[in-house]
Amino acid sequence: MRKQIAAANWKMNLTIDKAAILVDSILENATVLQDHQRAIFAVPAPYLSVIKNKLVGRKNIFVAAQNCHHKASGAYTGEVSVEMLSSLGIPACIVGHSERREYFNETNEQIAEKINLLLAANITPVFCCGEPLEIRESEGQNEFVATQIKESLFHLSENEIKKLVIAYEPIWAIGTGKTATTQQAQEIQAYIRSVLADQYGFEVADAVSILYGGSVKAANAKELFASNDVDGGLVGGASLIADEFVSIMGALK
Ligand code: PGA
Repeated sequence: MRKQIAAANWKMNLTIDKAAILVDSILENATVLQDHQRAIFAVPAPYLSVIKNKLVGRKNIFVAAQNCHHKASGAYTGEVSVEMLSSLGIPACIVGHSERREYFNETNEQIAEKINLLLAANITPVFCCGEPLEIRESEGQNEFVATQIKESLFHLSENEIKKLVIAYEPIWAIGTGKTATTQQAQEIQAYIRSVLADQYGFEVADAVSILYGGSVKAANAKELFASNDVDGGLVGGASLIADEFVSIMGALK
């Protein structure tokens, strides 16, 4: 079975004290993950080492960065490089989140550069894609997401693409309380897998975990994750509440 993943994206929230209480409470209450299941905490950069240390010895639970810079190093005040993440032993990093694309003008090309650096450092990229509301309303979502995937991923080899996690996150569902229906999520995630299959073949496409993100919560996780092509979720708001995230972890296939 493909890896099934519950990924928390804390975004720019929590003090370190509150973050520690949250993680402790989740660790205390979550059931042990099965071999094919993973939980990931994408935490603010200053907390990476602290949270990583809290997760030592926990089966299949890892810390992740929320972003990295697309250049290897240099005069980029305030930025975090892949080399820095690697030197801290961080195993995964979100790239291309719609908030980064929208507020920080990240392009598909820059996201491709980040992915290259991450893969070279053996860090798993969690690549986000997804359409804005007006594209969904004009039914252009498949084409929109296919372009994001082609421009950021199609230079990768078969081996490289297999190392990626993809998160489909319709922008209209992020932080809005409006979730895609199970059918909408399944349809486009099956389409994403078909885009990968056209380029890399069925076997490769079948190996890539595709998460759904956008107002995932305890109340809808089980139904969303039950779909064939939904391999877990990337969770913002609900990942800040211990009970919610514990349930979401428990909803993994
Ligand atoms: P949300 O955020 O769960 O708060 O909608 C998801 C995300 O942006 O990753």
